Amino acid sequence: MQLIVANYKMNGDKQFYLSAASKLNNLRVKGAKLVLCPPFCYLADFKLKTAKLGCQDISADAEGKSTGQISAKMLKDFGVEYSIVGHSERRAMGEGEGLVARKVKMATDNKIIPIVCVGENEKSEKQSLIKTQVKTALSLANKSAEIVFAYEPVWAIGTGDTPTVKHIDSAIKIVKNECAKNGFSCKVLYGGSVNEKNFSEFLSSSADGFLLGGVSLKLDKFIEIVKGVKK
Ligand code: PGA
Repeated sequence: MQLIVANYKMNGDKQFYLSAASKLNNLRVKGAKLVLCPPFCYLADFKLKTAKLGCQDISADAEGKSTGQISAKMLKDFGVEYSIVGHSERRAMGEGEGLVARKVKMATDNKIIPIVCVGENEKSEKQSLIKTQVKTALSLANKSAEIVFAYEPVWAIGTGDTPTVKHIDSAIKIVKNECAKNGFSCKVLYGGSVNEKNFSEFLSSSADGFLLGGVSLKLDKFIEIVKGVKK
């Protein structure tokens, strides 16, 4: 079963989410599990029979003096079951490994499954950086918690430049080994410029699914991928 996660980022408007909800609700999804992560303000418009609801971030704090943040409890009220954590676009805004670890703990303590993004910044950079990202992300979490990782090399996000299957497989091996070392068994997705033309190539990798950005906004192409993975 492939896990397909749509990260809509800060895109779309009410009309887009309403039409996406009705199109995706008619989709028969058998071999794939869909998780849709709209912006917070559209969570209420996006409750589908065919998909799980996710969000793009979660506060590391339980409540109180965190202006602009959304707590795990509030997300649960909206039916959120997954949260992307530590996306490279948030890391670029200054989110460090320690904060990512606290968010992972907050999510899992509240039965929200974190989808933790890890990956090297430059194509030339060693993949060993991922080890530290994985180890730190797991450092505060309960060993029985369900955690998903997404291997997203930053240089591949939104650029159209993608790694080889061999490159993806070696990164996924690092993530899985580090999880095992720390007592976890986690699914690992691949994300970064996946589209309706190249996804079938990535299906031959060891990834347990995809984290899709730009292509999620093109509903027909997104549906093509969802239908394609169940083959
Ligand atoms: P992309 O984004 O598919 O547009 O490269 C992926 C992501 O940022 O998660």
